[in-house]
Amino acid sequence: MKFNLNRYLLGLSMAIDCVESELLGVTSQHGRRVALLAMRLARTLGMSDSQVFDCAALAILHDNGLAQENLTRPDVQRDRLRQVEDMPAHCEIGEENVSRFPFQGETSRAILLHHENWDGSGFFGVEGEAIPLMAQVIALADYTDLKLNLGETRPGKREQVLEFLRVKQGKRFSPRLVDLFSEISASTAFWLDLRHPFLDIALSQTMPNLTIEADWQQLLDISRVFGRIIDSKSRFTHNHSSGLEEKSARMAEYLGADPETIIRLRIAASLHDVGKLAMPNAILDKPGKLDDLERAKMMEHTYFTRKCLEGIPGLEQITEWASNHHEKLNGEGYPLRLPGERLDIWSRLLTVLDIYQALTEERPYRPSLTHRQTMEILNRLVKEGGVDTGLVKAVDRAFA
Ligand SMILES: [Fe+2]
Ligand SMILES: [Fe+2]
Ligand SMILES: [Fe+2]
Ligand SMILES: [Fe+2]
Repeated sequence: MKFNLNRYLLGLSMAIDCVESELLGVTSQHGRRVALLAMRLARTLGMSDSQVFDCAALAILHDNGLAQENLTRPDVQRDRLRQVEDMPAHCEIGEENVSRFPFQGETSRAILLHHENWDGSGFFGVEGEAIPLMAQVIALADYTDLKLNLGETRPGKREQVLEFLRVKQGKRFSPRLVDLFSEISASTAFWLDLRHPFLDIALSQTMPNLTIEADWQQLLDISRVFGRIIDSKSRFTHNHSSGLEEKSARMAEYLGADPETIIRLRIAASLHDVGKLAMPNAILDKPGKLDDLERAKMMEHTYFTRKCLEGIPGLEQITEWASNHHEKLNGEGYPLRLPGERLDIWSRLLTVLDIYQALTEERPYRPSLTHRQTMEILNRLVKEGGVDTGLVKAVDRAFA
């Protein structure tokens, strides 16, 4: 089938931006600004459409390894997490994570090398033109936005940015790229495009329109990249999306679903909690019951999931399954309070399995529950009219 990779990336970029703004304290939309700037530089450098596309994808994904590195370093205080950005591991993890992403051409390990400095003082000591051009481009866009927030425009901003770049020209940044930046940033429009509400329009207009021939398996591979990022956000959910994916596939097979439905359910499961990337870790990792305000905040996550996915042509059904996992048959779920007749069997199944998966995982305020304890809770929900009786029975039989 034909699949629009742009819409997919832009939809999920919102979620990745949330991770970086929480971990690094950069203002939101950082990844998207880096992408726009990287594409403008790439175009001026004469890169082809497919290279410009790869630059944008790499820019959006550049710090995808951060959440995972954060996870492996529980000793690091949240307010000191900027330091995580100073660890080479997030480059290695990030590069490994995107190894199955359908880039259009050779990306020369640009994510691995996005912290290399022109003078060779970066993480891996690569120097000058030996640093792949795409990595040079992303490094400049990333660091400049991280330090100076290019989304905030005010009189004198261009001069301030150019001064910053000049000081680092030939040390941190490629001399040629600093000159190019000075050229392309002369217009007012350049700065306005980096700012809300112009950013999203500028991104879609600048990104080469890329429709790839993809099968569901490839889409699953890309979706798992995001599933991994989602799962790494909190140490309590480090297997959540992948666990749900496995259980959905097992149950769908048990219920006689065809192979295409099974693989599409796997994609929905990988992406179902993408909205959690927008939830603060203070809530996700809270070692106690959530208060009313926190619970209300948490209930926003499936709406974020819907908003990330619904603009992606071809994923309409997957969007429904992924976003409906907290809806209830009695219409008391969230965020849409959909009635039971609007919830098909696979939406219902993901709801039941999401509860099953979550209860059998450890949480900050309780240990993991056994199959029997989990079934007791699910059966209570059946009595309240929230979840599907037949599916709960089937899950009991299949997982007992
Ligand atoms: Fe980084
Ligand atoms: Fe960054
Ligand atoms: Fe959820
Ligand atoms: Fe979930």
